[in-house]
Amino acid sequence: MKTKQWNLMNDKINIESAIQEAALLLKKGETVAFPTETVYGLGADATNAEAVAKIFQAKGRPQDNPLIAHVATMEQLRKLLDKLPGYVEDLISAYSPGPLTYVLPSNGTCAPNVTAGLSTVAVRIPDHPIALELLTACDVPVAAPSANLSGKPSPTTAGHVAEDLDGKIAGIIDGGPTGVGVESTVIACREDDVVILRPGGVTKEQIEKFVPVAETFEKNVDKPTAPGMKYKHYSPEVPLWLVDGDISRIQGVIDEEKSKGKTVALLARDEVLEQVRADIRLSLGSSLEDVANKLYDNLRKVKETDADVIISEVFPDSGIGQAVMNRLRKAMTTYID
Ligand code: TXA
Ligand code: MG
Repeated sequence: MKTKQWNLMNDKINIESAIQEAALLLKKGETVAFPTETVYGLGADATNAEAVAKIFQAKGRPQDNPLIAHVATMEQLRKLLDKLPGYVEDLISAYSPGPLTYVLPSNGTCAPNVTAGLSTVAVRIPDHPIALELLTACDVPVAAPSANLSGKPSPTTAGHVAEDLDGKIAGIIDGGPTGVGVESTVIACREDDVVILRPGGVTKEQIEKFVPVAETFEKNVDKPTAPGMKYKHYSPEVPLWLVDGDISRIQGVIDEEKSKGKTVALLARDEVLEQVRADIRLSLGSSLEDVANKLYDNLRKVKETDADVIISEVFPDSGIGQAVMNRLRKAMTTYID
């Protein structure tokens, strides 16, 4: 299949007609990748099971892993749901559009393969002008997982999407690099509290302003889970070691590997990169927001280097750091402390 690309960063393009064209493809049952504020998504009409099946096919995604339905407005969101607990309305007013996904009882509007046969559906209003225009133009809920091959780091640029899916999907809308850089927070919304199934762009502290957070996603196994969290994810093509220690500990691990003849890449914030000697330096900027924003791009680009191993620092488990550490723990091959 020839994948059509619309580069909306090019000033000569007519953005409106490009979005109309992409929306038409979605309505016809094709798959189109588009930017959101978190990562690029691979969209298909969520009410059309055949269209949704093309997402699983292109990504090589396991069938038991449900998708998020994206909509532009509260009104469209209500059309997919059975009932909305009151606190969810408060969360929506505070954080949607934004990187928060609500798992709620489905009313059956989305095709069964969107929800992988579950009675609940995950819904989100993305905070990105292009995503919102596209969702408004096609006027159907759009099922969209991250637009990467299953198991690979999520795409934060249209180039990442093309690297994984060119020739396998109908189109890619290039809206430039995404902002948050890690995926949305997924919460299971219960009667009076929520469970964080996947940490992401909206933090636990932000959610707790409106509703109790019952358990965190990893401490209790006796809870509803996001089926996707059990799979290996976000993996770079080079072994990734997390080193939980100070600068001298990190340097010690690097020096030991170098003495064995290995080429070592260091994935860290600039303040650490400045103090440690490594063969290849992968910069994650300075703030935790920078780290989230630059993480997946660095995990992808390491394969263009001759690194034999990536050593990463361990980041504070607070704010967006929770999402970063969740992804790094899933991507790593070894933990050293
Ligand atoms: O930021 C994001 O969330 C991006 C952009 C494109 O919106 N999307 C994304 O989708 O990360 P995906 O498919 O890669 O991750 C969706 C997660 C998976 O872990 C899945 O198992 C979980 O949400 N999920 C979806 N529906 C669910 C449901 N009904 N119950 C529990 N977990 C669900
Ligand atoms: Mg994903």
